[in-house]
Amino acid sequence: MAIILGIESSCDESAAALIGSDRSILAHRLAGQEDAHRPYGGVVPEIAARAHVQILTPLIQAALDDAGLTLDDVDAVAATAGPGLIGGVMVGLVTAKALAMAAGKPLIAVNHLEGHALSPRLADASLEFPYLLLLVSGGHCQILRVDGVGQYRRLATTIDDAAGEAFDKTAKILRLGYPGGPKVEALAKTGDARAVPLPRPLLGSAEPHFSFAGLKSAVLRAAQSGSHRPEDIAASFQAAVVDCLIDRLEKALSGSADEGESPRTLVVAGGVAANGAIRSALEALANRHDMGFVAPPLWLCTDNAAMIGWAGAERFALGLTDPLDIAARPRWPLDPQAEAARGAGVKA
Ligand code: KG4
Ligand code: ZN
Repeated sequence: MAIILGIESSCDESAAALIGSDRSILAHRLAGQEDAHRPYGGVVPEIAARAHVQILTPLIQAALDDAGLTLDDVDAVAATAGPGLIGGVMVGLVTAKALAMAAGKPLIAVNHLEGHALSPRLADASLEFPYLLLLVSGGHCQILRVDGVGQYRRLATTIDDAAGEAFDKTAKILRLGYPGGPKVEALAKTGDARAVPLPRPLLGSAEPHFSFAGLKSAVLRAAQSGSHRPEDIAASFQAAVVDCLIDRLEKALSGSADEGESPRTLVVAGGVAANGAIRSALEALANRHDMGFVAPPLWLCTDNAAMIGWAGAERFALGLTDPLDIAARPRWPLDPQAEAARGAGVKA
């Protein structure tokens, strides 16, 4: 069994994990930086980068101690090399390079999105390629066909905001604080999802792309009108997001038949995949299409280092290691061939 040290630092979570190629999670540690960013209502890149500098080295040692291992026992060091907040990514990648060089171990530069995309295979050994992936996080909202490690075809992306961004902005508008997604979900449980009429952008459109900017503006107007209860806004917002995700996936499913072997499994990954309403709607969609459904456990949906270690293990098994001078990348699309979606502000 190969043992991979995984390091994650692309946003506001510093994380380290030791993952076996047999899917064993030997250790995983996570240190959020919520307190440092809370006064600003969102992640401040410079504060995040400095916090990673302070947190990562002792966190990696703690993970090694948890697993009862030393660096000598590790077969490769994997770190997020992008996309993300570049200062933080550089801190994690440079740390990985130093450890790899000092211990004479190979380095694996992991695409954070590939970490999310392959994380369901860490959770579920029976999940085979190809699968249809809804990748929903704070920075991305994409539908991808996953044919293998490093083999991604992007079928849809957002033309403006990501779904997680819409959750975070809704939380800010409703003054729920940061981080927003789980707070909106909790408040939505007590609200009426039909109380506030909100738009479903791009519903029924010919392309399978997403858009959430208009929904966010409608949430702002609903809040400013003063005529709705916050819990009703939260519930109505969440229901609108669910409708958009399901409609766009239906569109992608109706178009993916001509792409060779049809994926038999629907998979969801990324922080927004922790949302219970979204998970149940996706499961129902998969049932309607006679597809399997895989969603990683909640802790594996939001940013963590286990998924980076696992992506490292998948790459290591294929002999995919990287030179020590590899650069950190703020943008790094999983499918570089994908055409830019129309509209501005398209994320990698
Ligand atoms: O994957 P992730 O941890 O970080 C990125 O790579 O972006 O995703 C973070 C996003 C945030 O926008 C957060 O609000 C959202 O995931 N999120 C949720 C939930 N938990 C986290 N959104 C909706 N419901 C949740 N329960
Ligand atoms: Zn992420």
